[in-house]
Amino acid sequence: MMKPLILVTGGAGYVGSHTCLSLLEAGYPVVVVDNLSNSKAESLRRVEKLSAKKLFFYPVDICDPEALKKVFMLHSVGAVIHFAGFKAVGESVEKPLEYYHNNVYGTMVLLECMREAGVRTIIFSSSATVYGMTEKVPFREDAPTSATNPYGRSKLFIEHILLDLCVADPSWRVTLLRYFNPVGAHPSGEIGEDPRGIPNNLMPFVCQVAVGRLKELQVFGNDYPTPDGTGVRDYIHVLDLAEGHVKALEAAETQQGAAIYNLGTGRGHSVLELIRAFEKANGIKIPYSISGRRPGDIAASYADVQKAEKCLNWKTQRTLEDMVRDAWNWQKKNPEGYA
Ligand code: NAD
Ligand code: UD1
Repeated sequence: MMKPLILVTGGAGYVGSHTCLSLLEAGYPVVVVDNLSNSKAESLRRVEKLSAKKLFFYPVDICDPEALKKVFMLHSVGAVIHFAGFKAVGESVEKPLEYYHNNVYGTMVLLECMREAGVRTIIFSSSATVYGMTEKVPFREDAPTSATNPYGRSKLFIEHILLDLCVADPSWRVTLLRYFNPVGAHPSGEIGEDPRGIPNNLMPFVCQVAVGRLKELQVFGNDYPTPDGTGVRDYIHVLDLAEGHVKALEAAETQQGAAIYNLGTGRGHSVLELIRAFEKANGIKIPYSISGRRPGDIAASYADVQKAEKCLNWKTQRTLEDMVRDAWNWQKKNPEGYA
């Protein structure tokens, strides 16, 4: 049987490109809309090369209703996976209007286009950031949510909009995926994470130190109440995350209303553990020094993954060693990213 066509917003980005590959490999036809504000179309050419399949690409801004409507008119969309949005926490504090416009308004436009086209299935990229600063680890999906910055708040607002939609019209099928910390790359080294400017996140920073683009890593605090004092996070290989989207799509076929899942490994690793794993797997020293805590950071974040395991029949396969090896392989093969 022909699989439904999947519209992927933000499909040229980091998580999106890996998910497009998993979708094509699973036999789904794919249409990408991406305005390339934080990515390059080259990622999609490489996805096509890796899968030996074609996808449709439209350089469209999801905030442009007319352009987006046209895409829904040109293709018979079965479901939407919605990655498009801005994601830098610090920048969101400086530019709240830009963040709410792009993330919240952009989602509204998308949902209106979906309603008009009769498309009722959406999988949304939420974040573990919605568990806020006070919850105890491991985070469970039914824990209270909160936000401390405009980025996190935009994710929370969108979650609520989608949940309200399911209450108003039960024909909607909404899946909220709360990602923990996606890292790594496709083992081919053809696609990976290509942040603009100096990376905010740990793994791309470590990779750029390893490749010589940055001098040393600052470890943000070693006085947290964690085993070695540094921050603990649930790093998840981006391919495991991508496969989680395919599983969520399959589960949505028989789903009624809304569902929320954590996508993580359920295991936490400290900053120092990640550095050591990187050094060991890749045979490279990562110079670092300890600096003060980064404002807004929490001591520990990791997922309770029981619900995703049970309801999505999904479990991560890849280890921290796989993550650091694949991240470095991508960086080494593409020292300047896709440029
Ligand atoms: P990314 O920036 O690599 O991908 C986002 C893509 O969306 C980019 O290709 C960008 O060009 C595109 N885009 C942005 N605004 C757009 C618009 N108005 N119209 C069309 N395209 C637009 O980010 P990512 O790491 O792949 O993250 C994907 C999603 O997952 C985001 O919503 C992000 O908030 C969420 N998320 C990411 C992480 C993470 O650590 N990477 C963690 C939790 C949640
Ligand atoms: C960041 C975001 C969060 C988002 C998540 C996944 C912030 C404040 N939070 O969280 O909203 O959901 O990414 O995209 O940006 N670290 C260093 N040195 C560095 C960089 C990071 O020591 O140069 C430490 C951090 O303190 C943390 C860990 O490494 O303990 C991971 O940091 P990072 O990759 O930025 O992810 P999060 O802090 O989880």
